[in-house]
Amino acid sequence: MKNNTCGLYTKEVMEAFKNPHNYGKIKNADGIGKVGNIVCGDVMWLYIKVGKRRPVSAKATTGKEEIIKDIKFETFGCVAAISTSSTITDLAKGKTIKEALEIEKNEIIKSLGGLPKIKYHCSVLAVDALIEAVYDYFLKSKKPISADLQKKHNKIQKEKKIIEKRYQKWTK
Ligand code: FES
Repeated sequence: MKNNTCGLYTKEVMEAFKNPHNYGKIKNADGIGKVGNIVCGDVMWLYIKVGKRRPVSAKATTGKEEIIKDIKFETFGCVAAISTSSTITDLAKGKTIKEALEIEKNEIIKSLGGLPKIKYHCSVLAVDALIEAVYDYFLKSKKPISADLQKKHNKIQKEKKIIEKRYQKWTK
């Protein structure tokens, strides 16, 4: 962040903000994640299309593994929210669902060459949206949901309710 900055943000952040990758909607998405940020009220939709491929891991001998074949986002939010949304789509595309769920905010921040600390919460929006999209996919396709994924989903939903309540208050 020291050498490659553009004011408050790094050049990578500004580039991802101005020319975001995978922006838009996926028609007939397999999973949709909609999340909001309780700190600022910004909102993000993340769409995934799931595909299958032969396992690349030498340990796996049978079956096919599910991957994020396509991923798109729509974000109504700040510069950091849009750039982190773009980055998570780049990071998740082509990964297995398990690998995609392991993407953490620090990986996104690192890919962007850093973020101001007060903007770290924006990267959480992107991580949560991906979790929700996978959760939605598992639910729709009646796949087992792990206790960890369920716990994360419950927390995100709780925060979403707080935002909706706040918006209702503002729009009255
Ligand atoms: Fe809202 Fe960044 S200030 S997500």
